[in-house]
Amino acid sequence: MATAKLTFADVALTVNVPSGTRIIEISEKIGSGITYGCREGECGTCITRIVEGMENLSQPSALEERVLKDNMAGHDDRLACQCQVLGGTVKVRPG
Ligand code: FES
Repeated sequence: MATAKLTFADVALTVNVPSGTRIIEISEKIGSGITYGCREGECGTCITRIVEGMENLSQPSALEERVLKDNMAGHDDRLACQCQVLGGTVKVRPG
């Protein structure tokens, strides 16, 4: 199975994850400060800054794009409960 390297800058931890993993699935396990609410891509609580590797994430759905826009998120922000790490290296920190 393809893997990716996912780094959480706030806790300085890098983990190998299977391709297709959502950031929120790992962040809560390792104690990153990314907070979340609905986990359905609706509340915007889990907005996360992508420090590196935006190109290695799944494309945002129309719902994610709308929630990011409604919350005035920046170009480097994604919803940790929605975007999947597809491969390569990705570095994130709480938004
Ligand atoms: S936890 Fe609600 S949008 Fe991600």
